[in-house]
Amino acid sequence: MPNSLTATTTLHNGVKMPWFGLGVFKVKEGSEVIESVKAAIKNGYRSIDTAAVYQNEEGVGQAIRESGINREELFVTSKVWNSDQGYESTLQAYETSLKKLGLEYLDLYLIHWPGKTKFKETWKALEKLYKDGRVRAIGVSNFKVHHLEELLKDAEIKPMVNQVEYHPHLTQKDLLTYCQNQGIQLEAWSPLKQGQLISDPTINEIAEKYGKTAAQVILRWDLQTEVVTIPKSIKEHRIIENANIFDFELSQEDMKKIDALNKDERVGSDPDTMSAGFED
Ligand SMILES: NC(=O)c1ccc[n+]([C@@H]2O[C@H](COP(=O)([O-])OP(=O)(O)OC[C@H]3O[C@@H](n4cnc5c(N)ncnc54)[C@H](OP(=O)(O)O)[C@@H]3O)[C@@H](O)[C@H]2O)c1
Repeated sequence: MPNSLTATTTLHNGVKMPWFGLGVFKVKEGSEVIESVKAAIKNGYRSIDTAAVYQNEEGVGQAIRESGINREELFVTSKVWNSDQGYESTLQAYETSLKKLGLEYLDLYLIHWPGKTKFKETWKALEKLYKDGRVRAIGVSNFKVHHLEELLKDAEIKPMVNQVEYHPHLTQKDLLTYCQNQGIQLEAWSPLKQGQLISDPTINEIAEKYGKTAAQVILRWDLQTEVVTIPKSIKEHRIIENANIFDFELSQEDMKKIDALNKDERVGSDPDTMSAGFED
């Protein structure tokens, strides 16, 4: 079990990825994102998850430069947006993200959403970036089992990570098992269901027993299901709170109680119907 904020999982290519990080979806470019990322790094976070479509890569890059932490100690993820899918456009989008971030490489580059037709071409571009040594690991986001099966028919390199919506109302057991069998690390987005799970009575009951908060119980459940997690907060006290999950362990019984909250309910889009930015 991960026992500190810097604990890592080893991806199938040997690259080490922190189990825990900061997400910056909906965090405003400029001082908001700069202060959040700096607060996270100051408090021991080493992994930051952004995306071209979040429009805050410049601020993330500035915060990294101002953090005083060596680049090699950080794990930075970004994602190619739907409208940039395709071989050449993905190669170009990678350069644009690097330029905005002011970085020479990313630790992880993801296809943000599968869409219907272009993800294989897009994957070829990610494979090219990886083979050329431009990025340390490549992966996908919002891929269901059928998307992964289709991708793997032609892929030369298996994705190292699949980042999906994952929380106690959407436990995705089949996808988790499939990814584990394939050696693909699952990563949770909206682990707190964008805050909606904080008031859940079962989670609060469990939290009280351990002297922890609801957010801490949910994020600990992620780790104990072997899923990387990247909660977002712009408030330093919550950034600290969310990361304070390495000093307790949920019992098997409590893990089962949390698993039983599953309703297959999403807060974000369904990957099969997500069409924003796609032409087809
Ligand atoms: N690949 C994808 O398609 C995709 C989609 C969505 C998200 N993501 C990634 O996943 C990250 C996390 O997901 P998310 O931002 O959607 O949602 P989330 O992390 O589940 O929840 C964030 C919300 O919860 C609040 N919050 C955070 N910590 C809290 C705490 N301890 N107690 C109470 N409330 C708390 C935050 O408010 P404050 O900020 O005010 O604290 C914010 O409103 C994103 O930032 C992004 O990096 C990826």
